[in-house]
Amino acid sequence: MWSLKSWFFNEMCTSKARLDGKTVVITGASSGLGMETARDLYARGARIILACRNMEKTNKAIEDIKNNPPSWVKKDQYKNNVGELVIYFLDLRSLKSVRECAKNLLINEPAIHILINNAGVAAYPYEKTEDGNQMTLQVNHLGHFLLTLLLLPKMQLSGPNCRIVNVASLAYICVDLDFDDINMEKSYSPVKSYAQSKLANILFTKALAQRLKEANIHGINVYVLHPGIIDTEINRYGDNTLFPGATFLHGLYARLFCKNVVQGAQTLIYCSVAEEIANETGLYYSNCSVATTYRKANDHQYAEKLWDVSCRLLDLEPKEDFNIFLETVSRQML
Ligand SMILES: NC(=O)c1ccc[n+]([C@@H]2O[C@H](COP(=O)([O-])OP(=O)(O)OC[C@H]3O[C@@H](n4cnc5c(N)ncnc54)[C@H](OP(=O)(O)O)[C@@H]3O)[C@@H](O)[C@H]2O)c1
Repeated sequence: MWSLKSWFFNEMCTSKARLDGKTVVITGASSGLGMETARDLYARGARIILACRNMEKTNKAIEDIKNNPPSWVKKDQYKNNVGELVIYFLDLRSLKSVRECAKNLLINEPAIHILINNAGVAAYPYEKTEDGNQMTLQVNHLGHFLLTLLLLPKMQLSGPNCRIVNVASLAYICVDLDFDDINMEKSYSPVKSYAQSKLANILFTKALAQRLKEANIHGINVYVLHPGIIDTEINRYGDNTLFPGATFLHGLYARLFCKNVVQGAQTLIYCSVAEEIANETGLYYSNCSVATTYRKANDHQYAEKLWDVSCRLLDLEPKEDFNIFLETVSRQML
């Protein structure tokens, strides 16, 4: 999980891997860790798809990325070796938007090599999506669950060496999932809903890795990570849902004692490119290393239960054969 070393030292991803010819989809790349990861992978030559909901903000992010190379690249050499930056509209609050984004990607992109499920909200007020799900659960988990299932067939054809990177959080450690009240209709807490969605990210990663192995789908590995604590816009709702000043205090704490955005993006970049983990799958990473997971995150039955509940919430029929399941999902949803 974490150690004194991982708390006080910020490991940097040292991989020099180039991504020329590779296509990377990053959800929530308009700010914070997603944007910083986009900057790094663009500098490695990848075609970066920023899957985002706010076009104006994402266009500004693109300008920033184009004008400011990551620190390991010299400014005068930046423009010669970069990839491409492209925006696709994705609003995870709407499953229709997830399906449309997936459809557009499948039609327009010849290949998808890396999918980074990064977008997220935290400390969000109680709200239901148009699909009837609790907002944080849908944005952080269900939307990414569906997007991943829809893009998997394309990734199968894009391999070998494809990766799915799920951005979770150490916050998972504080909670269990209440499968009888997964949408938290009986009792809602903005902190708990976030932590539960992050536990769901880890359980989804493990269940997906297991299914890919059992279905003999080689060449797509799945990674999940805790980036650290970083002052980003993730806590923008804290003042309203926690207490006045919560956003400021979190930012101050993160800036004084934790990581900056560049440091926070390192484990996302590591899981996306590091050569030494190319044969690992279903593991949890922190500070650019494999880390141990605890409690319910290690419970296989729990992960299976979440898979079934997620399918139910998305009106999908879980199937024994994963390849048939993927075909059914694509037929039903596209
Ligand atoms: N910062 C931390 O301390 C920390 C710690 C642990 C884990 N994480 C995880 O790191 C990931 C990235 O967060 P961050 O810290 O970089 O925060 P951030 O700067 O707020 O970035 C979150 C991204 O998600 C996007 N997003 C939010 N709702 C969306 C929706 N409905 N549809 C599509 N995109 C949506 C945001 O876009 P808009 O601007 O349009 O809303 C933004 O681009 C999250 O999964 C978070 O849980 C962060």
